[in-house]
Amino acid sequence: MDERRLPCSRPLGLCVLVCLATTALLGHVLLHDFTMVPRELHGFSQVPKEIYRAPQQGASGSARAAPAQCDMPPDSRFDCAPDKAITQEQCEARGCCYVPARRQPPGSQMGQPWCFFPPSYPSYKLGNLTTTETGYTATLTRAAPTFFPKDILTLRLDVLVETESRLHFTIKDPANRRYEVPLETPRVRSRATSTLYSVEFSEEPFGVVVRRKLNGRVLLNTTVAPLFFADQFLQLSTSLPSRYVTGLAEHLGPLMLNTNWTKITLWNRDIAPTPSVNLYGSHPFYMVLEDGGSAHGVFLLNSNAMDVVLQPSPALSWRSTGGILDVYVFLGPEPKSVVQQYLEVVGYPFMPPYWGLGFHLCRWGYSSTAITRQVVENMTRAHFPLDVQWNDLDYMDARRDFTFNKDGFGDFPAMVQELHQGGRRYMMIVDPAISSSGPPGSYRPYDEGLRRGVFITNETGQPLIGKVWPGSTAFPDFTNPEALDWWQDMVAEFHAQVPFDGMWIDMNEPSNFVKGSVDGCPDSDLENPPYVPGVVGGTLRAATICASSQQFLSTHYNLHNLYGLTEAIASHRALVKARGVRPFVISRSTFAGHGRYAGHWTGDVWSSWEQLSYSVPEILLFNLLGVPLVGADICGFLGNTSEELCVRWTQLGAFYPFMRNHNGLDSLPQEPYRFSETAQQAMRKAFALRYVLLPHLYTLFHGAHTRGQTVARPLFLEFPEDPRTWTVDRQLLWGEALLITPVLEAGKVEVTGYFPLGTWYDLQTVPVGALGGLPSPAPAPLTPAIHSEGQWVTLPAPLDTINLHLRAGHIIPLQGPGLTTTESRKQPTALVVALTSSREAQGELFWDDGESLGVLEREAYTHIIFLARNNTIMNELLHVTSEGASLQLERVTVLGVAAAPQQVLSNGVPVSNFTYNPDTKTLDIPVSLTMGEQFLISWS
Ligand SMILES: *[C@@H]1O[C@H](CO)[C@@H](O)[C@H](O)[C@H]1NC(C)=O
Ligand SMILES: *[C@@H]1O[C@H](CO)[C@@H](O)[C@H](O)[C@H]1NC(C)=O
Ligand SMILES: *[C@@H]1O[C@H](CO)[C@@H](O)[C@H](O)[C@H]1NC(C)=O
Ligand SMILES: *[C@@H]1O[C@H](CO)[C@@H](O)[C@H](O)[C@H]1NC(C)=O
Ligand SMILES: *[C@@H]1O[C@H](CO)[C@@H](O)[C@H](O)[C@H]1NC(C)=O
Ligand SMILES: *[C@@H]1O[C@H](CO)[C@@H](O)[C@H](O)[C@H]1NC(C)=O
Repeated sequence: MDERRLPCSRPLGLCVLVCLATTALLGHVLLHDFTMVPRELHGFSQVPKEIYRAPQQGASGSARAAPAQCDMPPDSRFDCAPDKAITQEQCEARGCCYVPARRQPPGSQMGQPWCFFPPSYPSYKLGNLTTTETGYTATLTRAAPTFFPKDILTLRLDVLVETESRLHFTIKDPANRRYEVPLETPRVRSRATSTLYSVEFSEEPFGVVVRRKLNGRVLLNTTVAPLFFADQFLQLSTSLPSRYVTGLAEHLGPLMLNTNWTKITLWNRDIAPTPSVNLYGSHPFYMVLEDGGSAHGVFLLNSNAMDVVLQPSPALSWRSTGGILDVYVFLGPEPKSVVQQYLEVVGYPFMPPYWGLGFHLCRWGYSSTAITRQVVENMTRAHFPLDVQWNDLDYMDARRDFTFNKDGFGDFPAMVQELHQGGRRYMMIVDPAISSSGPPGSYRPYDEGLRRGVFITNETGQPLIGKVWPGSTAFPDFTNPEALDWWQDMVAEFHAQVPFDGMWIDMNEPSNFVKGSVDGCPDSDLENPPYVPGVVGGTLRAATICASSQQFLSTHYNLHNLYGLTEAIASHRALVKARGVRPFVISRSTFAGHGRYAGHWTGDVWSSWEQLSYSVPEILLFNLLGVPLVGADICGFLGNTSEELCVRWTQLGAFYPFMRNHNGLDSLPQEPYRFSETAQQAMRKAFALRYVLLPHLYTLFHGAHTRGQTVARPLFLEFPEDPRTWTVDRQLLWGEALLITPVLEAGKVEVTGYFPLGTWYDLQTVPVGALGGLPSPAPAPLTPAIHSEGQWVTLPAPLDTINLHLRAGHIIPLQGPGLTTTESRKQPTALVVALTSSREAQGELFWDDGESLGVLEREAYTHIIFLARNNTIMNELLHVTSEGASLQLERVTVLGVAAAPQQVLSNGVPVSNFTYNPDTKTLDIPVSLTMGEQFLISWS
């Protein structure tokens, strides 16, 4: 196309690209009848021969020569038949090109389109571009309708230059207010004065181009394919500057998405995690790693059912079934900054209570308080930490929320109180669906819910009835403020009987065992949209409630993907009111912004090696999405684990930010004490590592909560300039400093991991059997450090070992492990100091009472920086309260000390009993200091 750029006279790099391609537009042979589509084609039923996406056929497929405009490289073709399989005639009637594919590119899930848009395919035209307080506004007009019903021919574009690194634009119908996601996002009143990006517009066909100013790289170019904005089909395509794309949860697969024709469907669904299907959550956000290591992110704030198509040119198409186009672009330039910039829009993660980072144990099938008590006793007897005991459905009366059965769980409240007396916490499952089958007066949550009008309603305005665990159920509408109050009352009333500590909210996609409702669903546009994304089951109502059902804010069609998030918000709020301390909510279903209110577990995973290894990218991905409190069910939920799998899973699980072992009803038991002494010993070692590292983990959560950082992070976040890190998703980092290299395969006693440039100290040797006291010595290397040029390293990994390496330049705080965090929090602490070759390191500790609300506002916390340089280690007290001041510091282990010191001083006093190991270059210094008072340790 012949484009010419006008002289750039506007501020902020705004240029207008004017399309002068009249010859191309008018000259296109296929456009003659585009105004008539969709049209009936004679003989459609007799033309099964050349169906789009049919299996491969002979070389050139079509007998007709494709028009010249159709001569585009296969990788750059944009699908002109997203909605259904069509014939050549139907394709050409749409004004599109029809060229059967010769071959499927390797690794492609869906194949390249045979029917695709010519460059001249009509799109919107931009007009009346004007400057506003915050950016620009313009009108988009389309002259001719598309092949989707109810095109909105006039649109309004608003471009907001929000911050130096954040661009925001919306495309909406100026005449009719359409559904918009009710997520609280930052409001900006004036445009940013200098930006990392420039924005340009293509007039006809309309497109937005965003460039990175620094190098002119085009990050977004929506001119590559026509814009669609019909009532129930919105499509926005863009080129991508690289094939390294991550995000777009929730799906099962590698961290980096495959751009060889992949479709990711977002429509929250109850299904055991399987590759290539829509899972429990929707996060329409992606991040792209660019050449050189900079990164950008794009967030489409839209909650309708959608597909996201990736193709190898590379390019990406958003295809949504409703709402508006509300797009944020984050310029980074570091991948870390992209995460933070995204979280500035959707919200920083909540701060979990300290106990929430301990070990959680659950299974479906703990059928009584007696059995549940046995589990706790057996854990304790076998010297396994246990902070939080859980129950699945078993505790309920007839599987109804906010009840407990008087047979097995008659003394339920007493059991929970005993757990508290033992320094433990208690959580139980709560499903959103409320049993509707009992006679009036028999079940208060339903009666009250009916009275207060909190349920989602059907076509006739009555509560929609589905089927979940208790049988017939109604579904609370958490977008209704009255439902929030009702939920809070139900939670508080139950809490008054059973003093539980957190809520496990499951089945909240919402899951429904009948399609739509027990009465089916009406036949309507919402139930049968002209474009159905690639959902499992082929229909929006599959495994959930009718799309046409009505909620307070809008239709379920629009709000479905927000169901889990809205329940998480309601539960978070209810727990705050009922308990007055920090809430702890773990949810299966999620949407963008979820981490502000709750954590996530990855659902009903199988006890398989494949699921074990997939859990690493899933945990990493949720951290990039601002949901750092995430974990998979250790040892797997469905099917039977093996001893070896369960050991390896426990080792990796010790490094999930949320650590829970959970098992299904019919599977063999998998509590840690069920296995051989060898296996138990290996697991105990992993538990000890977890508990020793809790102060560091808690400090990382503080960084997430206050600075939008990640807890578990992919290597590329720390080493973006090393492209070899980009695809590493079988290892994870905790923060900047700890590299975890788990064994993810059966029968292996070695593991190969990538070690980015730098020095990495082996921390694998936490002595076991020392639970209840600080291991002596603190974790310290057995083997010399790895000095890596940026290379793959094969390490020994016998069954009792998970490889753990501390990055030079970092100091981490440790604390003696206990069988609960209540105990471990009273233990003495230690520091591990990993020196660089220039003998420097730093780290931090955040500490508070572990569960109060508002500690930052009330300044009821301790925050300490540790600095090592020039053979000294000192602390810098940013803020200290009595709680932190009393933490005893007993040991400082310095890694990378070149030669044995003659003398070690602690606050000027000689330390006589220091030790130095010349093989590992480790200096071990016993001290008697308090964290909250200034200290200086030196050696010479
Ligand atoms: C995508 O295709 C390219 C070549 O067409 C191939 O080199 C690459 O391995 C494929 N990627 C995947 C993930 O299959
Ligand atoms: C520009 O605005 C005027 C007045 O509102 C309107 O008549 C015209 O159609 C608009 N032009 C375009 C291209 O949108
Ligand atoms: C944007 O894409 C269009 C269509 O492919 C192309 O003609 C144009 O050159 C691109 N613009 C930039 C700045 O890359
Ligand atoms: C607890 O341990 C005892 C003794 O080994 C065993 O009999 C019992 O089945 C165990 N109970 C559970 C629930 O693990
Ligand atoms: C709506 O739900 C009620 C039950 O609450 C049911 O009796 C009625 O038949 C349903 N209406 C439709 C149209 O399905
Ligand atoms: C490092 O410490 C030595 C003595 O301990 C001192 O002489 C020297 O000046 C210090 N260097 C720096 C850069 O602080």
